[in-house]
Amino acid sequence: MTYRPFRPFDTKVKEGLQVTVRDVVPDDGDLIELGFDRLSKRSRFFRFMASKSRLSDAEIDLFSALNTVDHAAVGALCMGDDKPQPVGIARYVRTSAESHSAEISVTVVDAFHNRGIGTLLLGVLAKMACANGISEFLALVDSENAAMRHLLLELGGTEETPDELEVSIHVPIYQDPTNYPDNKVGAYVRRAYSYAKLSDR
Ligand SMILES: CC(C)(COP(=O)(O)OP(=O)(O)OC[C@H]1O[C@@H](n2cnc3c(N)ncnc32)[C@H](O)[C@@H]1OP(=O)(O)O)[C@@H](O)C(=O)NCCC(=O)NCCS
Repeated sequence: MTYRPFRPFDTKVKEGLQVTVRDVVPDDGDLIELGFDRLSKRSRFFRFMASKSRLSDAEIDLFSALNTVDHAAVGALCMGDDKPQPVGIARYVRTSAESHSAEISVTVVDAFHNRGIGTLLLGVLAKMACANGISEFLALVDSENAAMRHLLLELGGTEETPDELEVSIHVPIYQDPTNYPDNKVGAYVRRAYSYAKLSDR
């Protein structure tokens, strides 16, 4: 199976912010590092489930690796100071060869929280993942991470260990976006599907 990318697109999120959404590419190491530097301690903890002050070179290489059917990432950027600025990133990693399940992470720079960017990236990631043979997302979420739990539960997720410090959430994902729940998060994800057009092979 060959990886199916999507065409980059521009859209406006809450408060009129214009963002460009595109595949992450190997040249994005500096943007990934800058995005990490702009995360609060709490967001870093929620993303990595540990205190973290910097990304290692190996992590930067991994996080900016060329997308494949097994590991792919999508990023959101906005323009600032005449240069693209990192806004958010979402990735899936297939749990094992041949599996239809992938572990995901979504990270939005704190200054851009609550504008619909996390939901937008999650929706684009779901469309990409489905096109690449994934049918379920799995997220390990800190029990205090109310925003991420909210997003995934509203999208139809099921919590496996709701009372533990790390909550395991399974979310079915669909090629047909009408299968997502009839709520606000489902509607945002349907909109993300309509923006992210898959490229021809
Ligand atoms: C989780 C995260 C990606 C969400 O990104 P975001 O761009 O702020 O998300 P959105 O704006 O699309 O949606 C946030 C939703 O969560 C809700 N929310 C925010 N804080 C909340 C809270 N404390 N309790 C419940 N819901 C909350 C918002 O109301 C919004 O829902 P709504 O649109 O129905 O109002 C972002 O908070 C983040 O990057 N956190 C740090 C890294 C992280 O935790 N990653 C997840 C690791 S698996």
